Amino acid sequence: MSRLILLLMLLTGYQSFSQENLSIQNIGNRKTYSLNGKWNYIVDPYETGYYNFHLDQYDTRKDFQMGAYYFNYHSPNKQDLVEYDFDKSPVMNIPGDWNSQAKDLFYYEGTVWFKKSFDYSLKAGKRLFLNFGAVNYKTDVYLNGIKLGAHTGGFTSFGFEVSALIKSSNNFLVVKVDNKRQKDAVPSTNTDWWNYGGITRDVTLVETEDTFIEDYSIQLDKQDTTKITGFVKVNNARPNDSVTIKIPELHLFYKTNLTTDSIINFEFFGKNIKYWTPGEPKLYQVLLSYNSQVLEDKIGFRTIATRSGKILLNGQPVFLKGICIHEENARGGRGNSKEDALRLLTWAKELGCNYVRLAHYPHNENIVRLADKMGLLVWEEIPVYWSINFKNPATYQNAENQLKDMITRDKNRASVIIWSMANETPLSAERTKFITDLISVAREKDPTRLISAALLSESKDGIHTINDPLGAYIDLVAFNQYLGWYGGNLEDAEKIKWTSIYDKPLIVSEFGGDAKQGLHGNKYDRWNEEFQEYLYIQNLKMIDKIPNLAGLSPWILVDFRSPRRLLPGIQDGYNRKGLISNEGKKKKAFWIMKKYYGNKR
Ligand code: GCU
Repeated sequence: MSRLILLLMLLTGYQSFSQENLSIQNIGNRKTYSLNGKWNYIVDPYETGYYNFHLDQYDTRKDFQMGAYYFNYHSPNKQDLVEYDFDKSPVMNIPGDWNSQAKDLFYYEGTVWFKKSFDYSLKAGKRLFLNFGAVNYKTDVYLNGIKLGAHTGGFTSFGFEVSALIKSSNNFLVVKVDNKRQKDAVPSTNTDWWNYGGITRDVTLVETEDTFIEDYSIQLDKQDTTKITGFVKVNNARPNDSVTIKIPELHLFYKTNLTTDSIINFEFFGKNIKYWTPGEPKLYQVLLSYNSQVLEDKIGFRTIATRSGKILLNGQPVFLKGICIHEENARGGRGNSKEDALRLLTWAKELGCNYVRLAHYPHNENIVRLADKMGLLVWEEIPVYWSINFKNPATYQNAENQLKDMITRDKNRASVIIWSMANETPLSAERTKFITDLISVAREKDPTRLISAALLSESKDGIHTINDPLGAYIDLVAFNQYLGWYGGNLEDAEKIKWTSIYDKPLIVSEFGGDAKQGLHGNKYDRWNEEFQEYLYIQNLKMIDKIPNLAGLSPWILVDFRSPRRLLPGIQDGYNRKGLISNEGKKKKAFWIMKKYYGNKR
């Protein structure tokens, strides 16, 4: 684009078009145009394309800045000093992290710029939205040299309306991604997983009518299992427009007219509803109509609750036979596709699971929708992990934003039964206030699901006690324990007692130990498969005796990359607690766990 046109756009106030972060529900069932594919990228460790040499930020200025990468400038003459060129820069597959796609970016933490050129003819009366499934970690988005806005958080979707900016040809979308770890971020600087940077999930243009259904919630009422209730939110609503909800298989048809408000709350009653369960994951076709527009979704109906030490699914006790999962693909990169989800959940099913803990951040929508279909109950969590800066209001706001985005996206998924607020956070008054505030937001946004957090325990004289103050605020008291790996003797397993000061269901949300697949030896020597197998046998003997035990999710299904795990010849940059190696080979402990679940009723 020539400098003159850019200048005109800047002068007419197009400089910054920042707007609220919009997340349209159920993109997969709308009219979309994918921007996935090859994008050019520029590695910019000094953020030369974002600041001038005095660290003035280019995109807060009104005048044209030749050095600002988001102009994607190509000079018409040889006098201009332009020191970048996206079109002559390398390309990378999007969606996909940069660490696993470019050898020289394996450990890179910093800024990378991405550019995608495309044409799009938007007909009159239509609107166009740009949506990102997730970008890790801090993102600035520009279209045709104009800033759309910014987003912080590496695992939730966000988007912007681009109707006024799109051109029929030669659009250029420039995205600045910065994955530097920050003390005040969520997560903070210290994690036991790889800090994959980049545009890690789908990039999609969504075309809509001038007014359209933006969001909706359709759930079974917690108390009355014949009642289906929720809301429909219409964007740019006009009074007296009509909204209908149909569930053909239940012969349900609900119609109402909008008033002045763009949100309608509804309830209607169904007969002979087949409730969703892991054994029979019944999903109903739901048709939402707004004027002549029809949006389809597949939704399961079930209730989840706790009573004393039990978890009740549709009023019946259920034991969570689970496994923890990190979002990684077979190549050792950030997972995001339907194939990645199928690979992981098929193994979980083979293990005998009815439940998965998606650790330690919201996973991609493919895996949650697949869990709906395959009949796997799901624990989802936000990355309030280890030592977050609990004293910083901005850190709290970041965590709350991620929590709300996670609930907004997955609130219609029957498989999701637990929202977890935190993992192994150190005790302090600030931390408990930070997390109980998050719990209040979660309960307000979604009163239908269970709230949990993975806690630590105290042990004294062979008695392990769950007495974390958070236990008073959560429905499920989950805790991580590593008998035989981070302490304790496996031979004592059957003598160890567990107690909780809460009369609530207990979940062992993590236990396990490392083994290098294919390394064999005696069961007392770390790192070999026999050791891991023995560790599982002994831990399960102890776990079986925990009062109010309502489930467990061993750590972890598959070996995963971690910069903390560096033992040469054994870890080599992988956490080896997987029951399956990163090459997809099962270890001996996998069969111990499978047998345990097979015998568990
Ligand atoms: C911790 C933590 C995990 C970590 C695991 C381990 O409990 O929750 O993220 O990977 O233990 O040390 O392997």
